Amino acid sequence: MSEKSSTAKRGAYLAAICANKQIGERFYRLGLEFSGAGAEAFAKVQAGQFAQLDVSGAALPPAETIPEELADVAGRKVLLRRPFSFVDVTTKDDRTLVDILYCVVGPATLRMTTLAAGDSVSIIGPLGNGFRVPEGKKTALLVAGGMGAGPLQHLAKILTADFPGIEVIAFAGAKTAEELPFERQLDKIAQQLEFSLPEFAKYGVQSLVATDDGSAGFAGPVTDCFSEWLGKSDSAGESTVIYSCGPEQMLTRVAEIAKARNIDCQVSMERRMACGIGICQSCAVECRVAESNETIYKLCCEDGPVFDSKEVVFSS
Ligand SMILES: Cc1cc2nc3c(=O)[nH]c(=O)nc-3n(C[C@H](O)[C@H](O)[C@H](O)COP(=O)(O)OP(=O)(O)OC[C@H]3O[C@@H](n4cnc5c(N)ncnc54)[C@H](O)[C@@H]3O)c2cc1C
Ligand code: FES
Repeated sequence: MSEKSSTAKRGAYLAAICANKQIGERFYRLGLEFSGAGAEAFAKVQAGQFAQLDVSGAALPPAETIPEELADVAGRKVLLRRPFSFVDVTTKDDRTLVDILYCVVGPATLRMTTLAAGDSVSIIGPLGNGFRVPEGKKTALLVAGGMGAGPLQHLAKILTADFPGIEVIAFAGAKTAEELPFERQLDKIAQQLEFSLPEFAKYGVQSLVATDDGSAGFAGPVTDCFSEWLGKSDSAGESTVIYSCGPEQMLTRVAEIAKARNIDCQVSMERRMACGIGICQSCAVECRVAESNETIYKLCCEDGPVFDSKEVVFSS
C-alpha cells in the first residue's frame, strides 16, 4: 500500500462462494472465501488490485429474468475469465473473505448471479498493482463513477486503518440514484451532513453524492461536484492525493482537475482483458514517456490498472 510495500503472490486458487446478494436492480455483492495458499495470497491484497474469475461453468438465470437488452448476448459462451476488483477483504482465522461488487452487463455477469453458497469458482489473482500512498500526504480524495466505488471503498478502509494521519473524503457519482451501486437508500439528513453513504461512513469517511439527473445529491457529473468542493476547500496541492476509478471520460476530467491544481492523482484504468497476466497484449494503455514527446504502450493488467494520471494519454 505504501510505496515500499510488497505485493501478494499471485496464483490460481479455488474460492468457495459464501454469499451472492442482490443490492440493486443490476448490482450484486459476491462473497468469496479462500483457504490455504489462496487465503494467504488474498490476505495481502492491495486496494485497486483485481482477480480473473472463471464463471464459464455457472448456469444462466431463468430466461424470463434476463433483462431484455441482454437477451441476445446472454447465451454467448464465456470462454475468457473476467476481471473484477475488490470492495472488501477481511481475514478470519486461517481464511480470507473477499467481496466483489458487480454490475450485470453481459453473459459472464449474468451467469455470476446464479452462483450460490456452496459453489466454487476458479480465480487467478491477486493481479496488477494497487493504489499507492506517497509520503507526506494529509488528505486523500476518492472520486468514483459507477462501479468505481467498489475498489475505492476498499481503499477507504485501508487508508483509515493504516494511515490515521490522512483525512479521507469520497465523491461518488452515477447517472441516476438507481445507478449508484450502494446497498442502502440515501438518507436526506446524512446527505446534508455530507456523510451520505453508509458504505464510507462506517470507516468515518465523509462522502458526497452526485447524479447527472439530480435524483440524489449534487445535480450534475461527479467531477463538477468534486471541482466545486475543491474550489471551496483549503486542501494544499502537495499534501493531497486524488484516487479515481470509473469510466475513462470521468478519469480524463479528474486528471485535468488534478493537473490544474497540481495535485498527485492515481487513476484505475479499465481495458478488455483476455489473459490478465501480461501475455495477450489486449489491454494496452498509451502512456507518455517522461521528459519526451514520445508515448509507449503499457499493459493495464501488469503495469496497472492503477496509473499516475500524468502519464496516461486518455482516449476520451
Ligand atoms: C481491472 C478491472 C477491474 C474491474 N472491476 C470490476 C468490478 O469490481 N465490478 C464490475 O462490475 N466490473 C468490473 N470490471 C468490469 C468487468 O470485468 C466487466 O463488466 C465484465 O468483464 C463483463 O463481462 P460480461 O461477460 O458480463 O459482459 P461483456 O459482454 O464482456 O461486456 C459487456 C459490455 O461491457 C463492456 N466492457 C466489458 N469489460 C470492459 C472493460 N474491461 N473495459 C471497458 N468496457 C468493458 C463491453 O464492451 C460490453 O459493451 C473490471 C474491469 C477491469 C479491467
Ligand atoms: S490482459 Fe493479456 S496482456 Fe493484459
